[in-house]
Amino acid sequence: MSLSVIVLAAGQGTRMKSTLPKVLHPISGQPMLYYVIEAAKTLSDDVTVVLFHQAERIENAVKARFSDAKFKIQDHANYPGTGGAVMDIETMHEKVLVLNGDMPLVTPEALEPLVEGDADIVMSVFDLPNPSGYGRVVIENGEVMAIVEEKDCTPEQKEIKTVNAGVYLFKKEVLDRYLPLLSNDNAQAEYYLTDIIKMAREEGLHIKPVWVEEAAFKGVNSRYDLAHAEELMQSRIKEKWMRAGVTMHLPSTIYIDSRALFHGDCTLDNGVTIHGESVIADSHIKSHTVIEDADIRNSDCGPMARIRPGSILIDTHIGDFVEVKKSRLKGVKAGHLSYLGDADIDEGTNVGAGTITCNYDGRGKYKTRIGKNVFIGSDTQLVAPVTVEDNVMIAAGTTVTKDVKSGALAISRTPQKIVENFFHRFFGKKNPDKKSDQ
Ligand code: UD1
Ligand code: MG
Repeated sequence: MSLSVIVLAAGQGTRMKSTLPKVLHPISGQPMLYYVIEAAKTLSDDVTVVLFHQAERIENAVKARFSDAKFKIQDHANYPGTGGAVMDIETMHEKVLVLNGDMPLVTPEALEPLVEGDADIVMSVFDLPNPSGYGRVVIENGEVMAIVEEKDCTPEQKEIKTVNAGVYLFKKEVLDRYLPLLSNDNAQAEYYLTDIIKMAREEGLHIKPVWVEEAAFKGVNSRYDLAHAEELMQSRIKEKWMRAGVTMHLPSTIYIDSRALFHGDCTLDNGVTIHGESVIADSHIKSHTVIEDADIRNSDCGPMARIRPGSILIDTHIGDFVEVKKSRLKGVKAGHLSYLGDADIDEGTNVGAGTITCNYDGRGKYKTRIGKNVFIGSDTQLVAPVTVEDNVMIAAGTTVTKDVKSGALAISRTPQKIVENFFHRFFGKKNPDKKSDQ
């Protein structure tokens, strides 16, 4: 497509009050800048990300996901501001789309009406009952006259409800002409990209406003904005998956990472959290279960289970208060109160309540291998590395420290002792419940 894109990500993000650069703050699992670059890349083969504050950190984060990304370091000392950010950038194409890096909700579809415009400048605007934080768009007789930043507004201009959404399509020649004319004579002593509008207007250029939805163009400047943007992102993610066939009970209580994938027939109960690149197929995730980067197929988990990264569950039942980490369970039942870490457990095996794989000895992590049709009694500890072959029974309360051969019983228990009449000797014969009276 004959369009270049410039993504502005050099600002300090002071209003976030954070040591993490603003554009790296995550929304639904990914830095907000990723969403902007992703949208840019579907529209253009020439995307430049402008950096300055914590440039190296942001560059590394972007490269980890977009290995071919192009960067430009802004001459921030001499030319701070969004206008300074766009200066001296070599673009390949005649049209240049400028996107703010703090607009994580933007999508290629939402940008389409802007990209299609044929004016000298196409700009995005929306109307807000509370426009605070945004540049106000002065429109007279249907024509855009200027954008005035909030800090430079007169009291009357502050009342304007039409705001600049922060996306512009410029003809390259317009940028070439007006960028050198920008000045920093304003409240923030910055070179505002938005000042091009007024200059272009005065010289009779055609500026086309395109009304857009805040749901796709919201700018994030504070952590309050961040939370609001994440809510909008969550609604979008959940709507997509519900339409694709995922049942959600009380979706407003469910959190789903933007990278998670669902296949087939899935149900999520209230309070479920799905983090990371989890893949869930034909499964039921019950209330308040947390799934993190796990692969779950034809299984049910929870309520209140935690399935951690690297876990693969196939045809498996996981009940309440079971934690699984980096383990592969196929055809397994683990109904209650267990920790299964670095384990490989095969078909037909039943994991009793309170079973724990002791996978860490303070220095290293070790594997527990459990075969088919193993009956693991309650309160069993498996001290890894250890292997339990097929068709084994492990008695309740056993600490398994040695491998168990197929067909065997493993039992390690202190023999039970009975002391007759002990209770009455200890508490006395009368009223044993009222100990405080004794
Ligand atoms: C900007 C617009 C405002 C608009 C709003 C929409 C200007 C002057 N104002 O304001 O009209 O309503 O976006 O969200 O453009 N950046 C740089 N270099 C800099 C300064 C900023 O690259 O020197 C980047 C930031 O990293 C950010 C983007 O530009 O991604 C916007 O900067 P920000 O400070 O958030 O501008 P706003 O005050 O939101
Ligand atoms: Mg902003």
